[in-house]
Amino acid sequence: MLRLVELMRAVSVAVCLAWPVLPAAAQSPAALPDGPGREVVLRACSQCHSLENVLRSRLTRRQWEARIDEMLARGAKLTDEEIDLVADYLSANFGPP
Ligand code: HEC
Repeated sequence: MLRLVELMRAVSVAVCLAWPVLPAAAQSPAALPDGPGREVVLRACSQCHSLENVLRSRLTRRQWEARIDEMLARGAKLTDEEIDLVADYLSANFGPP
């Protein structure tokens, strides 16, 4: 009987340890290449939707600027500097194929 209790405790500890990893993997921040602007994208672009919206897009710089404008209209919080940084970062890493 004691064995069973110990086993259950071990399983619940394992589940707790694994849990935080799951949503992080679903957000796939690892798919964002390093570079200036990455931190801003992680912070400012994952508040309303997953980063999938960003990751599956392939846009020119001008198109990214327009997209960021749309997000600002929807309530995204970025300074002018951050907008420039993010537009550079996204068009460099998620530009047209
Ligand atoms: C205030 C909320 C909000 C923030 C912050 C936000 N978005 Fe969005 N975004 C939306 C909504 C709402 C949609 C449309 C619904 C959806 O696709 O989930 C959307 C859709 C998108 C799409 C898909 C649009 C399409 O037509 O394919 C892209 C790309 C995108 N967002 C990029 C970004 C980027 C880049 C940032 C950071 C600069 C950002 N979003 C931050 C609200 C937001």
